[in-house]
Amino acid sequence: MSTSTASIQFYDYHPREADFFAEVLDGLSREQKKIPPKFFYDEKGSEIFEKICDAPEYYLTRTEQNILQENAEEIAMIIGHHCLLVEPGSGNCEKVRLLLDALKPQAYVPMDISRDHLKKAAKALSADYPWLDVHAACIDFTQPLDLSFCPIGMQKIAFFPGSSIGNFEPLAAVKFMSHVVSAVGRGGGMLIGVDLKKDKDILDAAYNDEAGVTAAFNMNLLERMNHELNADFDLDGFEHHAFYNADKGRIEMHLRSQRDQVINIDQQMIHFDEGETIHTENSYKYSIKEFQLMARQAGFMPINVWTDPEQLFSVHYFEVPAA
Ligand code: AVI
Repeated sequence: MSTSTASIQFYDYHPREADFFAEVLDGLSREQKKIPPKFFYDEKGSEIFEKICDAPEYYLTRTEQNILQENAEEIAMIIGHHCLLVEPGSGNCEKVRLLLDALKPQAYVPMDISRDHLKKAAKALSADYPWLDVHAACIDFTQPLDLSFCPIGMQKIAFFPGSSIGNFEPLAAVKFMSHVVSAVGRGGGMLIGVDLKKDKDILDAAYNDEAGVTAAFNMNLLERMNHELNADFDLDGFEHHAFYNADKGRIEMHLRSQRDQVINIDQQMIHFDEGETIHTENSYKYSIKEFQLMARQAGFMPINVWTDPEQLFSVHYFEVPAA
């Protein structure tokens, strides 16, 4: 169903809410206990994540912003004006602002699972860019992307910043990109931010900031289970543990039990040995070549890539060959 205000269309595809309880019980019954990272983002978790982006050690956000800002004109020259710009997981729609004046898309399609967040962000954006046609879709973008609700006749470009692709397992990342290939079609493209492999110390520091913001983000998962699932995690009984696993090319985040303990979640009892962890997130880092290979596997052709002088972060542009 769609509703329209001045220059915004809003489409609600009623994404199915993830079942927090079922996924937590399933994850905590495995040999390596785990909880999917999507559950970080309740209201408090989303607020803490915004603070992570400002942490001095977390170079990702500001480096990507600089790359986009400094290269917006060249990006626009390659992509061309008047495209339909689609942003899966658009959140607060902040990063796209760095591109809009140069790129001048005909329409922008922010997509997010969080209905209220999406409406607020789309309205604010539309107020600041009154010339832009905004079609906001409340949708679960991890499912195959169906853009049939979008206006037709424009080149479709997906924008996926923030290195969120790094939170997918590599095979799932290729699958996601192949959904993007089908959605944008021949001649369509994808502008995507990808964190680069680098010195382990820089990576370890980015996920273990001095102020403890990333630790609070990780620990908030325990608080969330206490509030929403009637669990009794003692927050002093767990600690944030994040490190770069060079063999796997990824940062791993865990919550580590400080002692032998039993946790109750609703009627279920879960035992933790001292030192046992809940694996909460992977954040894969890719060289430019590795990522181009994955994008090729999905059906994209590399067109250009921009980095910063220290080679911390990359922004790639790929296209789907026209024939
Ligand atoms: C959202 N995502 C790209 C972040 C990352 O760096 O993997 C999430 C994050 N986790 C800890 N710090 C930031």
